[in-house]
Amino acid sequence: MSHSQKIKETFIQLYQTEPLLVQSPGRVNLIGEHTDYNMGLVLPAAIDKKITLAIGKRDDRHIRLYSLDNQENYQSNLDDIKPSDKLWPDYLLGVVDQLVKKGYTLGGFNLVFGGDIPQGAGLSSSAALECATAFGLSQLFDLEVPPLSIALVSQAAENNFVGVKCGLMDQFASVFGKEKHLIKLDCRDYSYEYIPFSSEDLKIVLFDTRVKHSLASSAYNERREQCEHGVALVKKVYPAVESLRDVTEQQLLELVKPIDELVYRRCHYVVSEIQRLLDACEDLKQDDFVSFGRRMFETHDGLQHLYEVSCEELDLLVDLVRTQPAVLGARMMGGGFGGCTINLVRAADVQEVTEIVAKGYEEKTGHRPEIYIANISQGTSQIIN
Ligand code: GLA
Repeated sequence: MSHSQKIKETFIQLYQTEPLLVQSPGRVNLIGEHTDYNMGLVLPAAIDKKITLAIGKRDDRHIRLYSLDNQENYQSNLDDIKPSDKLWPDYLLGVVDQLVKKGYTLGGFNLVFGGDIPQGAGLSSSAALECATAFGLSQLFDLEVPPLSIALVSQAAENNFVGVKCGLMDQFASVFGKEKHLIKLDCRDYSYEYIPFSSEDLKIVLFDTRVKHSLASSAYNERREQCEHGVALVKKVYPAVESLRDVTEQQLLELVKPIDELVYRRCHYVVSEIQRLLDACEDLKQDDFVSFGRRMFETHDGLQHLYEVSCEELDLLVDLVRTQPAVLGARMMGGGFGGCTINLVRAADVQEVTEIVAKGYEEKTGHRPEIYIANISQGTSQIIN
């Protein structure tokens, strides 16, 4: 039975009515890490792992949620939306809260969801769940929420309800994903461009450390504050500066480095990463995946030593592929402190590379990494059955 059929059948068993079905994918990001909340650019793509969600109206104001993967239910009411004592309901309730605050009129509803995006792997299962919820509610109640607002409402749910001050990348990629294309998103004005990415010879391989260190979300918010601190220091002399997007390396050297070395290192990473992404997009235009891959390694080095959001397991996975000619580029991906590395690997050698990495990782850590091949696929959509 397909995944969406299972979700649908569970819904029918629980609520005895036919649901509306939607899906929203996880994402990878080729380059441009920790740049989104600094108004920089990112280069993500939606992948063929997703959240599937079944939803149907009720006659009252109750909200009944069921997580198939956790085999847990949660109940709430439209007139009393507040954070739960578990994590997963908050992604859904946060979206409801934001839609209501934006003035959309909802009624009570029943909902079942599940998915195949590994949790804690840095593939944005939470953004996928938020976007599936926002889109599902929009379809169910004919709200006609535009795609960008679906992404923004989902981000606001994460920022304000879950408490992670994330940027827009994950939600945008989940909503706007397009088969065989990367999305070059400018987080300053949300303009974007699809860049074809369907080389037969290259595969996007993800190695999952299967660890998620607990400081991930607090460190994430702390990095964001450090970037804002750097901007404030530059702004004293250059009032027009709004974000690290507007800041030059020279300004950092003059105005931040003498005052706060740590903040300088954080900002230095971000400013160079924004430029690296622009250079990497030029590489793509020339089909120069060798240069592109080299920049991915540079990104990892910056995230490891300057931004300091990597961890031993991620560094090990990157070090294991550094000398393998079949791996053009590799780096940690997403927020950091666990999750996956993303690797650009010559298709013919994927098997060999994965065996070497799995063995090397197991020798050092005692467990095997999970391995996924990411295929780039479409964004949030309704499933017509
Ligand atoms: C997480 C956040 C994104 C982005 C990345 C780092 O995935 O949700 O907004 O900041 O980390 O690039």
